[in-house]
Amino acid sequence: AHADEPIRLAVGELARFLGADVDDPAFLTDPHRCLTPGIREKSVHRLPGGALAVLGYTACAEVLRDTRFGHGARELYETTLLGLPARSFLQLDAPGHTRLRGQVARHFTARRVRALAENVGYYSTALVREHAGRPGDFVADFAEPLAMSVISDVLGVPPEDRPAFHRDARLVVRGLDQPARAMDERAVAQARFRFVRFFRRRAQARRQAGTRHRAPRDGLLDALSHRPDGSPADIRELVTTCSLLLSAGYDTTVSLLSHAVAELGGAPSGQGWALARDPQTVGAVVEEVLRLHSPVQIAPRAAVRDAALDGLPVARGTIVLPLLPAANRDPDIFDSPHTFRPRRYLAPAAQGRSTARHLAFGAGAHFCLGAALARLTAHSALAVLAACPPRPRDAPRTYSEGVVVRGLRSLPVTWPHRP
Ligand code: HEM
Repeated sequence: AHADEPIRLAVGELARFLGADVDDPAFLTDPHRCLTPGIREKSVHRLPGGALAVLGYTACAEVLRDTRFGHGARELYETTLLGLPARSFLQLDAPGHTRLRGQVARHFTARRVRALAENVGYYSTALVREHAGRPGDFVADFAEPLAMSVISDVLGVPPEDRPAFHRDARLVVRGLDQPARAMDERAVAQARFRFVRFFRRRAQARRQAGTRHRAPRDGLLDALSHRPDGSPADIRELVTTCSLLLSAGYDTTVSLLSHAVAELGGAPSGQGWALARDPQTVGAVVEEVLRLHSPVQIAPRAAVRDAALDGLPVARGTIVLPLLPAANRDPDIFDSPHTFRPRRYLAPAAQGRSTARHLAFGAGAHFCLGAALARLTAHSALAVLAACPPRPRDAPRTYSEGVVVRGLRSLPVTWPHRP
């Protein structure tokens, strides 16, 4: 059921090329360290199967911004996302990409994003209260339910549907990015079925209600049920776009929140949390977590025309794999690249050299549409957590086995009593 088998193969090749075993727990714990020796050698590597692994910051940014690298080649994706023969706009080039992204972007205004982020404070406070005083798991107790609530707000999932939607959506997202052996295939298939049925029914109900008498809901699901000219949206397009928002926004936010808590909890004598508590510096903490623990591992492209990269000729059709975590630890760009140092994002001029923007949200035409929302979500959640930080417990952490998004699967913590 995986949409991106050629990419999966190329990633496996890449791991072997770097001398790593992707199934080895040590690799899962810090795969990014394996990447830097490769960068020092050269920033673009041709893998045995012909794909190009792009490790250097400058070359990664170039691929993401250059329209010679895109998604055009049909053979790149045998897309069967949710059994629907449609690509999300993340996997389209202009003009299809521009049209569909534009439709969503119109509803992702700064005002709407601020309103969405306001709810984050309420959700976070409720979750912290619910677990106060208990040993728990930060991922399951906080990061996952919070990220799912935010996405449900974005889509406009009604409160009464949320428990079932959350259960199904979580399985659907995992099913897109996990090796089959890690999943219960039957449960995933059933969740997928219910998930698509949910969108279909909502879209039908919205259409029956007509365009004029809209219920006072403001989720994307409702907004996208009709095209800008008032005609009904194509149901496959709608489901694909909504699942893109879910798959792009859920695991990534879980990864960001849990890595932030792991780093802040590990810093000596609560220094990290002091930075998170201060509205002037929490932003730097979030940027540094994104740089050091970039949730999205690869932003796959193919050469849609003959091109060149770092002196290497790139024939049309070649798979090109920019590795965002490698770019974000490029020693030519970032001092002490493996060290968590939020201060590099504070007054960069005072640090000796200006701090480059990390590429955790990508770059160019496909730059993350949810970047502002992800940032504000993290700022609000950390502000609540900083008042009463969960303490990491001395118990094993586990990491996801996803190829595209990497993050913690469990982070044992003790939830303090509320002051
Ligand atoms: C695209 C990262 C959160 C929606 C991307 C891309 C990256 C990324 C790297 C570009 C992929 C590529 O070029 O191949 C992240 C990270 C997040 C995050 C690190 C959180 C920490 C979100 C959220 C949403 C979202 C919360 C929405 C609710 C999207 C969409 C795209 C995208 C729609 C596709 C944009 C396009 O193709 O034009 N994201 N994302 N993301 N992201 Fe995010």
